Parts: sequence; C-alpha cells; structure tokens
Amino acid sequence: MIIAVDGPAASGKGTLAAGLGGHYGLPHLDTGLLYRAVGKAVAAFESTPEFEAEAIAAAQSIDLGDLHPELLASGEIGSLASKVAVIGEVRHALFAFQRDFALRPGGAVLDGRDIGTVICPDADVKLFIVAEARARMERRARQFEARGQIVDREALLSQIEERDARDRNNPNGRFFPASDAVLLDTTELDIEAALRAAVAIVDETMARKARP
Ligand code: DC
Repeated sequence: MIIAVDGPAASGKGTLAAGLGGHYGLPHLDTGLLYRAVGKAVAAFESTPEFEAEAIAAAQSIDLGDLHPELLASGEIGSLASKVAVIGEVRHALFAFQRDFALRPGGAVLDGRDIGTVICPDADVKLFIVAEARARMERRARQFEARGQIVDREALLSQIEERDARDRNNPNGRFFPASDAVLLDTTELDIEAALRAAVAIVDETMARKARP
C-alpha cells in the first residue's frame, strides 16, 4: 500500500505520515528533508549566481545518509528548501529517489507537497492535511521551544506565510490536493486525534477499494 500525505509547512503532515508508517508497518520518507538537505548544502551560495547550478549538483548527489531531521529542522533551512524547490532540475533530480522509495515491495508512506499529484499519482490513499497558519506557527514554536530555543512568534508566522506563498506559486510544483485526495483539517486536533482521523480515512478508502 502506498500512502501519499501532502500539505503546507508545519501542517503536521510529517508527524502524521510517521504515525501512519508505524501503524501500518510501512517505511516513511519525509520528502521535505530532501529539499532541506539540498538547501543546507548550498546555503553559502544564497544570493550568488552559482546558487541554481550548485543546488542542481547537490540534488543529483543526495543520499539517505544526508537526511538528518535534527540537523535540517530550522526555519532558515526550511526557507532555503523552498528556494531550491522552485528549480525544475532540482525537482527532476529528486524525482527518481522518491519514486524508488515509494515502489519498495510492500509499499511506503511519503509526505511532502506533490506526492499525490506528481510522485505517486497512483497512490492507494491520498491525504491532504490543512491547518490554519496560526495553529501551524504555534506547533512549530512549541517544537523549537522544546529544543530550548527562544521563539519570536510573529516572525515565525511571517516565515510560514512567506513559505506558503512561495510554495503556492512554485512554477515547477503542483502543490494542490489531487482530485482523489481526502482533506483533513487538523487545526483543532491534537496529534493523537489527527492520527486516529488519518487511520480512519486510510481504512475507509482501502475498504471502499476492496468492494467489488
Ligand atoms: O515539508 P517541509 O517544510 O520540510 O518542506 C521544506 C520545503 O521543501 C517546502 O517549502 C517546499 C519543499 N518541498 C517540495 O517542494 N516538495 C516536496 N515534496 C516536499 C517539500
């Protein structure tokens, strides 16, 4: 079974996708980490003419060993990720990696922005996670605070809204719900409730597909 989980920054899609992976015994790939690893690798080239070429080269040489969530979590790396993500050749270079992961025997859970539309248009179940920007900011703020960081909430909200706009207007991305995706609004849900809702959607979708 392939489960595609898409949604905007800090919508909780990564936590939900990891939870679904645990629930169904499927490997999970947070595809945002790929873009974050590329963004981090080219941080020194930001605002230089080499940025694009360096990002393409970094995307072509990425491997699973580069994906350390704890080293890639910052808002600054998230912003760099959204900048490299508009480069068509970067997306192209990362496509095969994601597709290979999805096609593992037994299936997988992938989360990102374009999993249900581009990477796995044939996924068995597609979820599109949404939550109001302020709720997403508050969750991210608490994650950072749990790591001992001091958070400026208004600055964090602006950063999230800026990334939403860049992602939404990405000329090379297709960041909209697939026509067969099920929308899940997690604004009012804690992680346990959101995971229960996601599992119910997966079970219902699979049961519906199994009916003759
Ligand atoms: O989900 P995230 O915040 O870790 O993603 C970081 C950036 O990577 C995000 O701004 C857009 C980009 N991204 C993408 O373009 N396509 C994906 N499948 C995943 C992430």
